Amino acid sequence: MILRNVRLATLAGGVRRGAAMNDLALRDGVDVRIVEGRIAEIGTGLSGDGEDCGGRLLTPGLIDAHTHLIFGGCRAGEFVQRCQGATYEQIAAAGGGIRSTLRQTSECNDLVAIGRKHLDWMLANGTTTLEAKSGYAMTSVGEIAILEAYAELSQQGPQRIVPTLLGLHAVPSGIDRAAWVEEVCDNLIPEMARRGLAKYVDAFVEQGYFTPDDARLLASAAGQAGLRMRLHVDQLTSGGGAELAASLGAATADHLEQTGAAGIAALAESNTMPVLLPASVYALRKSKYPDARAMIDAGLPVVLATDFNPGSSPTPSLPFVMNLACVMMGMSPAEALSACTINAAASLGLESEIGSIEVGKYADLVLWDADDPAQIAYWIGAPLVRRVWIEGRVLRA
Ligand code: NIG
Ligand code: FE
Repeated sequence: MILRNVRLATLAGGVRRGAAMNDLALRDGVDVRIVEGRIAEIGTGLSGDGEDCGGRLLTPGLIDAHTHLIFGGCRAGEFVQRCQGATYEQIAAAGGGIRSTLRQTSECNDLVAIGRKHLDWMLANGTTTLEAKSGYAMTSVGEIAILEAYAELSQQGPQRIVPTLLGLHAVPSGIDRAAWVEEVCDNLIPEMARRGLAKYVDAFVEQGYFTPDDARLLASAAGQAGLRMRLHVDQLTSGGGAELAASLGAATADHLEQTGAAGIAALAESNTMPVLLPASVYALRKSKYPDARAMIDAGLPVVLATDFNPGSSPTPSLPFVMNLACVMMGMSPAEALSACTINAAASLGLESEIGSIEVGKYADLVLWDADDPAQIAYWIGAPLVRRVWIEGRVLRA
C-alpha cells in the first residue's frame, strides 16, 4: 500500500535533546510505501496502488508515556468540589482522591471493558502506543488483575501497551506502609516479572504517600527482577525527587512540577528522562507547571504525556497536552510533537521500532486534517485526526 502526496513530519534521526527538539525532519510531497506493517520506502513517484492524501500532514502515531488506563468509576464529584475551590489535597485528606478510585475499582468486574473504552478515546486522539500503569487496587490480587487486563488488551490490539506495575500508589487501608512495600518488593515484582506482565515499576513519592526510602527498596527489587523504573516525583511538594530518580537510574522521572535547578542538573547528568504532565496541573487548577524551558535548555530530552487518570488528569488527548505545553510552558509546537513521538518512544525503550517514520519501523501513523505540524497543538479540541494506522492496518478514529 502507498500513501501518496503527504507532508511528512518524519522525526527521523533519533531522540531529540535541547535545540534538536525543534527539528521534525519534514519532507514535502512524498509517498510512503507500507509492506507487512512496516515502512518499506519513502520517496517521490513510487509505483503501485495508492491513495492520494492531498498534501496532508502525516506524523508518527502519538505515544503516551504515562497513563493510568484502567480504573473504576470517575471522580466528577471531586471536580465539582474543585470548581468550588476545594484543593486536591483537601479532597484526598477527606477520604477522596486515589482512595476513592481504589474503592470504585474494587467494585468492577470487567476491567478489560473499561480499558477498551479508554483505548478508543485515545485512538480518536492519535495515540498508537501507550504506557499503562496498574495502581488502583493496592492489593496483590487486584494489581495482578489490572496487569492481566493490560496483557489481554495488548493482545487484542490495536494499540501497543507497555505495562507498568505502580505498586506504590497509595498506602492501602488495613496494612502499614512498610508491610505493603515488602509485599510489593518480595512478591508482586518478582511474580509480575516472571509472568512478563510488567516492564516497569513505579511509585508515587510524595508526602503522605511513599518515601524516597520506599522508592530505593522498590528500585532494588526491580533491578533484581530485571525491570526498570519510572517514578512520580516532585508533583505536589518539592522533595528532591528528580535527584532521587536520577540516582536510582530510573528510566523516567515523571511530573517534576516542583523541580528546580539542582534537580534539572541531576537529570542532565543521568539517563533519566523527564516526563511532563501539564494536564494534571491544569485539571487540579494549580499554577505551577514544570519548567520545561529550563529542562530543554539543559539539553534534556523532554517527554510529554497525558497522565490519563480519573483524579488529576481526566484527558486521553495528547494534542490537548501539546497545546498546554505550548501555552502554559512555552514549548514550541515542534518541541511538543518531538516530546510525544520519538522522545516518548525512547522513554519506553522502543525508539528502534516506533516514534518516527523511517524505513524498517512499524507503520504507526496519523494523517491529520492539517498541513502544518503546528496545527496539532494550535487547534484546541478540534477532531483533527483523520486516519490512524497501526502496523499498517488502517483504523478510522
Ligand atoms: O499521576 N500522582 C499520583 N497519581 C496520579 C493521580 C492519581 C489520582 O488522583 O487518582 C497522578 O497525578
Ligand atoms: Fe500519574
